[in-house]
Amino acid sequence: MLSWDDEPTSAQRAPQAANLDAAPAAEVAKRVNADDKRIINGETDVNQLVPFKYKWAWDKYLAGCANHWMPQEVNMQRDIELWKNPNGLSEDERRLVKRNLGFFVTADSLAANNIVLGTYRHITAPECRQYLLRQAFEEAIHTHAYQYIVESLGLDEGEIFNAYNEIDSIHDKDQFLIPFIDVLTNPDFKTGTVENDQKLLKSIIVFACLMEGLFFYVGFTQILALGRQNKMTGAAEQYQYILRDESMHCNFGIDLINQLKLENPHLWTAEFKEEIKGLFMKAVELEYQYAEDTMPRGVLGMNASMFKGYLRYIANRRATQIGLEALFPNEENPFPWMSEMIDLKKERNFFETRVIEYQSGGALSWD
Ligand SMILES: [Fe+2]
Ligand SMILES: [Fe+2]
Repeated sequence: MLSWDDEPTSAQRAPQAANLDAAPAAEVAKRVNADDKRIINGETDVNQLVPFKYKWAWDKYLAGCANHWMPQEVNMQRDIELWKNPNGLSEDERRLVKRNLGFFVTADSLAANNIVLGTYRHITAPECRQYLLRQAFEEAIHTHAYQYIVESLGLDEGEIFNAYNEIDSIHDKDQFLIPFIDVLTNPDFKTGTVENDQKLLKSIIVFACLMEGLFFYVGFTQILALGRQNKMTGAAEQYQYILRDESMHCNFGIDLINQLKLENPHLWTAEFKEEIKGLFMKAVELEYQYAEDTMPRGVLGMNASMFKGYLRYIANRRATQIGLEALFPNEENPFPWMSEMIDLKKERNFFETRVIEYQSGGALSWD
């Protein structure tokens, strides 16, 4: 049992105090100078959050905490009634919901594993690590939300959770991502060479811009389109909270990429940029195949070819955000209402499905 009156034993003292022979000047030298911090390959103490250098990362951590929500706070009763009503949804709408969940129920576990077992240990800026910890928890909440929807609707868990093995359009997206996770989670992988630093940068770009920034968007648009037609409103509300989190993850990733580039301009070679462009093109193709597979016919006033335009529009945006040229010039957004959904400042809960209101998580709007 601990007592506050006892003198600390040497084992309880802070590590730097344990070395009594160290000259005071040497201890001062261990103090972190913000200017010395680096996103990767830094040599400052990662346990000292302050002094801040990457204030944008800390601000995003605070914003993420302020937007905290939990899946079970969303009432699913209307969704359950609709799903159980034989005339509640068309076959195409049911297929869309199941394929949609089939991708998402495992996608956020991939994202979480990538952060916790991969990216986190290679990042030497403690502000960014702090955000990644928050992000990892949000990915757990998202997996929880998808599981909660599957459970509420009484869907076949085996079918939905195995879709990433059994449905080609989902499997292909995940197979595209997995090498970029594996490289970072390999215990022998270390940054510090141009080749490996480029591998890390590439992996961060694939995750932020192509997974969170592109592969999620067909799925988000589909469920939010259902919600706009007053169908599956509980699921749609959950997706709107998830979309808000994911757009923050994507923006954090883009800030991380740009800061990493700024500190390591030698990584951003012409050859590297060409490789990244090729990955963007491949991701657009894979996500379009997923759109076709989930919507073989038009549904909800949307069809796969509208998504071709949307994906090109998003890909352009992601490319320019990290300093590449637009890949598909002059593409326009066929779903302008999606931009509204991403706006974090909406305060009204249209469906009034939410039972608890957070101070700043607030509620979301559908119009
Ligand atoms: Fe997520
Ligand atoms: Fe995410």
